[in-house]
Amino acid sequence: MAARTCYLGKVVVVTGGARGIGAGIVRAFLESGAHVVFCDKDDPPPQWPEETSAHGFRQLLEVNLLGTYTLTKLALPHLRKSQGNVINISSLVGAIGQSQALPYVASKGAVTAMTKALALDESQYGVRVNCISPGNIWTPLWEEVAASMPDPKATIREGTLAQPLGRMGQPAEVGAAAVFLASEATFCTGTELLLTGGAELGYGRKASRGTAVDIPTLPS
Ligand SMILES: NC(=O)c1ccc[n+]([C@@H]2O[C@H](COP(=O)([O-])OP(=O)(O)OC[C@H]3O[C@@H](n4cnc5c(N)ncnc54)[C@H](O)[C@@H]3O)[C@@H](O)[C@H]2O)c1
Repeated sequence: MAARTCYLGKVVVVTGGARGIGAGIVRAFLESGAHVVFCDKDDPPPQWPEETSAHGFRQLLEVNLLGTYTLTKLALPHLRKSQGNVINISSLVGAIGQSQALPYVASKGAVTAMTKALALDESQYGVRVNCISPGNIWTPLWEEVAASMPDPKATIREGTLAQPLGRMGQPAEVGAAAVFLASEATFCTGTELLLTGGAELGYGRKASRGTAVDIPTLPS
């Protein structure tokens, strides 16, 4: 396959680029002709937390929100000079919520909100700021979360059936969306690109087991 050149010679910085979605983004930008710098860390990443202690919440905000903010702040002087752009990785659940995941959901909702606020502030400098909100993407993190569940196969099946498209997304598909936002979507700023296989569409059974259900009856 011939190498694509839509981002030829540009410098791209990717955080968490060693695996999963980050690795998909690194690969996609390399294929687009960019020079890619990425970082990662050695110790295992935190899982999607279910407990809501203030300490755990603070730790997650530190990584997901403040980490994103800090790197962006350092990069902005360069981005203003080069007319570059920022792509944050948020999450669908930041927009629609998810049960038993309050800190994660709140941190991602904040990433989306920060994206929009920064897009407004940076527009005067010609820097676009967008985010991608993935739904279920099959990554090592997803594998680890599934493996920790009592019935991993059932968890993976539920995660797959959540998408009308009948599958999970691939890291390469997030990479392709990131290259699109960076190189072609030149009139997009403050955009939240939902990359979800349609998971947020339509009605579903959403009352939880403990909810008192009030079902209307048909007139006889
Ligand atoms: N996989 C999904 O279904 C999904 C859905 C929505 C959003 N997301 C988001 O996408 C991003 C990537 O998720 P993933 O599924 O690819 O996870 P992953 O665990 O498979 O990969 C994440 C990578 O980031 C690295 N990392 C973690 N903390 C870091 C830090 N502080 N500094 C540098 N590197 C760090 C990890 O070492 C790992 O290599 C996360 O922000 C996640 O919340 C994922």
